[in-house]
Amino acid sequence: MIPTVRIIANHTIALLVMASTLSAEDFDREPINYSKATPANSVTELQSKLDMGKIRLKYHPERGYLDSLLEAFSVSPKSQSLVYSKTSLQIARIRPRTPRAIYFNDDLYVGYCQLGDVMEFSVADPKLGTVFYTIYQRETEQLKFVRQTDNCLICHASSRTDNIPGHVIRSLFVNAGGQPMFSAGSYIVDQTTEWEKRWGGWYVTGKHGEAQHLGNLIVRSRDVPRPVENSAGQNVTDLTKFFHPEHYLTPHSDLVALTVLAHQVKGHNLISRANFTTRQALHYQESLNKELGEKPGHPWESTTRRIASASEDLLEYLLFSGEAPLPTPISGTSGFAEEFSQRGSKDKQGRSFYQLDLQTRLLKHPCSYLIYTDSFRQLPPKMLTRLGRRMNEVLTHQDKAEAWHHLSAEDRQHIHSILRATKEHLPPQFVDAFKK
Ligand code: HEC
Repeated sequence: MIPTVRIIANHTIALLVMASTLSAEDFDREPINYSKATPANSVTELQSKLDMGKIRLKYHPERGYLDSLLEAFSVSPKSQSLVYSKTSLQIARIRPRTPRAIYFNDDLYVGYCQLGDVMEFSVADPKLGTVFYTIYQRETEQLKFVRQTDNCLICHASSRTDNIPGHVIRSLFVNAGGQPMFSAGSYIVDQTTEWEKRWGGWYVTGKHGEAQHLGNLIVRSRDVPRPVENSAGQNVTDLTKFFHPEHYLTPHSDLVALTVLAHQVKGHNLISRANFTTRQALHYQESLNKELGEKPGHPWESTTRRIASASEDLLEYLLFSGEAPLPTPISGTSGFAEEFSQRGSKDKQGRSFYQLDLQTRLLKHPCSYLIYTDSFRQLPPKMLTRLGRRMNEVLTHQDKAEAWHHLSAEDRQHIHSILRATKEHLPPQFVDAFKK
């Protein structure tokens, strides 16, 4: 009897220690094995098409494979978002006169620098969360995406991404050389970031009335003047005074694209976290059961708790709880909004989660379209079941918590209707909760 108690006591301690020290390298162990496992995502898919000769890419004398790759990946050039802070990999190429361009769709992000040595990719991988690749920008017979881990994870797996591989969008003050002025502070940008803290170090084209942001600001003095004076950076629709837009695919850094980007990056990070946490918790539970001679599947309260916590964070984000309200109606310049709103499946009334509001919030029906992505659909069944059940509780007013007060009765009803109408694009474990 005594030894058993001691074993359990030790394991309880191990369990507590483990719950509090889940950290950076855990994703490189079982069951995730991030760096060693074989990825399967839209990059690996394109690579096999290229290898089989099913697709040929065209090389552009100035932009290399950019144009052709965006087309092959179905990434719209209208998503172009320009960042001029030296905050990423190819700092020698980035400054206000030669910003870095980012393009994205629902599961892939492309980073392009003028005269860059490489093009950078981050992609949502249903099993491995965010996976990184580069290609060389010179012309070649056999284009190869090179998977990257440590070179990117230095920045892409830090406390800013909850210590798992993920996306980062920062906002900070930048001088004429593109150097961030860290002493003046910096912000992480996602959908909860207040408007006036957004887009420092980014170009922003669009209209937004009186609302102020930090975009298009280049600090010419030694210190950042307080209060920040950026009236010239507001409501900018033409970037020619800053740099030569003709070297880019489009002359825009569209405000609506940027706002969608802010939503998406953290959404992807939380999906990855929900994936990793569930698998790690279940894996840990099984090793514990084995060691303690319990039956496989014997549940531990700590497992349920960890899954519940990751699922609540994700659910709140997907339903835009805590979204920073738009201070004024916004519009972009590239036509991104019009193109984006046409996407996705609709219900009988023509409603979809890609419809934009842009008056007071991002989406007309505040439930993220990321639920249609492969990474969401392939979340572990336990996570999906819980998310479906909780989503249903929120939408049917069973959960009256403050986190959901931003959803009106009409919002909830519309979201419910769209979910039911588009259920064939959603995972069954998630949809089951809406059958009743
Ligand atoms: C020095 C830090 C740093 C390193 C190293 C780094 N990145 Fe990033 N990356 C950033 C930051 C910060 C952003 C946000 C945009 C910006 O500031 O340029 C970013 C954004 C991106 C984006 C756009 C969307 C996203 O995922 O946030 C892609 C794609 C990307 N990086 C790819 C890569 C790849 C591939 C590598 C490795 C080969 C890499 N990065 C290495 C800091 C870094």
